[in-house]
Amino acid sequence: MNQNIVAIDGPAGSGKSTVAREVGAQIGYSYVDTGSYYRAFTLFFHKIYKKENPTIPFSEWIKNKNLENEISKISIQTEFLSGGTNKTILNSEDVSEEIRLPEVTEEIKYLAPLRIVRDFVNQCLHDLGDKYKLIMDGRDIGTEVFPDAKFKFFVTASIDTRAERRFQELVEKGVNVDLDQLKEDIAKRDKSDMERKIAPLRMADDAILIDTTQLSKNVVINMILSKILQS
Ligand code: CDP
Repeated sequence: MNQNIVAIDGPAGSGKSTVAREVGAQIGYSYVDTGSYYRAFTLFFHKIYKKENPTIPFSEWIKNKNLENEISKISIQTEFLSGGTNKTILNSEDVSEEIRLPEVTEEIKYLAPLRIVRDFVNQCLHDLGDKYKLIMDGRDIGTEVFPDAKFKFFVTASIDTRAERRFQELVEKGVNVDLDQLKEDIAKRDKSDMERKIAPLRMADDAILIDTTQLSKNVVINMILSKILQS
């Protein structure tokens, strides 16, 4: 069992990143947002797509790319800052903001299901795991990336609650979005994450399920902390 890894998996908007960041700060584990790797990987191609400005959609264009050749040009790193915040660095450039672009979020579904992409990200995550104690949030950390993690949680909430939380987050950032559209986008992403053949979003058999629909952030943090500290 790997004592140095805490895995927090779950769907979009479940609040897993907020709790992972705060639990990590309290137990001295570095927080890693594994979604940021899929986002940065997608951004690499998104930028090329924009530059080439082809007439075909991204979903078609990406099929014609030889990922095996391109992958050697990609380097993704997490820079740990104080208080559990991170920077995502793609080929020496800070892309922490850019990876959140709605277009990138939408395009991830063409790359995240591919074995070659998942192997690349998993290698990055294992390299970090060799050096640090980590608390990671994602979709497949407890099932595929670190199945031997000692601590595994699956954090979820109803679709309405998750859409509402994401909506509030965006409003606070000054981003204008439609709540119903946001809910539809999240539901679509859940579906593609759960239905992909390789490493789908799924709760590990030995994970602890936390439904946060009716729970405040602090209650969830304390539940996770007490499970970790009592074992
Ligand atoms: O923050 P949010 O929940 O919106 O998403 P994210 O954690 O940034 O992840 C973005 C997308 O990356 C997910 O919808 C998944 O398709 C993919 N992802 C994945 O396949 N495996 C992971 N371990 C993390 C993210």
